[in-house]
Amino acid sequence: MSPITKLVFATNNAHKIAEIKAQLGEAYDFQSLASIGCHEDVPETSPTLAGNAEQKARYVKEKYGYDCFSEDTGLEVDALNGAPGVITARYAGPARSAEANTAKIFAELSGKTDRTARFRTFICLVMNGEEHLFEGRCEGRISEEVRGGEGFGYDPIFIPAEGDGRTFAEMNGAEKRKYSHRARAMAKLSDFLRENAAS
Ligand code: IMP
Repeated sequence: MSPITKLVFATNNAHKIAEIKAQLGEAYDFQSLASIGCHEDVPETSPTLAGNAEQKARYVKEKYGYDCFSEDTGLEVDALNGAPGVITARYAGPARSAEANTAKIFAELSGKTDRTARFRTFICLVMNGEEHLFEGRCEGRISEEVRGGEGFGYDPIFIPAEGDGRTFAEMNGAEKRKYSHRARAMAKLSDFLRENAAS
């Protein structure tokens, strides 16, 4: 069996770490920010998702010295001109409440027929003095009501276009990974790491 590679994932979001562990299996030993002693809020002040991913990875490399990767995800709703986008986590305010965020999406979409939306994830890998960016996206639409108890964040109101009409929160982890923005970006990261390790 090949040796396990240690990789710092610049997040303390347990859901994201669990998703990545489930996807990339035992090849990597993912370290969270807490496990490297980083307990402060990592700045994410860029106007773009890609910029935030880069900012977080650079911060961890510069302050803690670890090669690492970070990710930033946004939900873009077409009828809301791409909102909440870069402020997806704080759409309904600084408390980052998933319930308040989903309630605000429903309120903003009230009376609108176009409910198309997408998730986009950017991953920034800082490794061996270089930066690499990977993107994953998932097209879909906002449901009419909250459905399902799995997942996190906006999962109970997002229906992937390639699925069978269920929200992400009505799918188990393996089902969500078939369509998920993050799984797609992670697959690109994984391919890159594999090719890089082989060269
Ligand atoms: P961040 O990338 O951690 O800043 O997350 C941005 C926002 O998107 C947060 O409100 C998350 O809960 C939400 N979010 C990120 N990934 C997902 C997902 O896979 N499903 C549902 N919501 C997500």
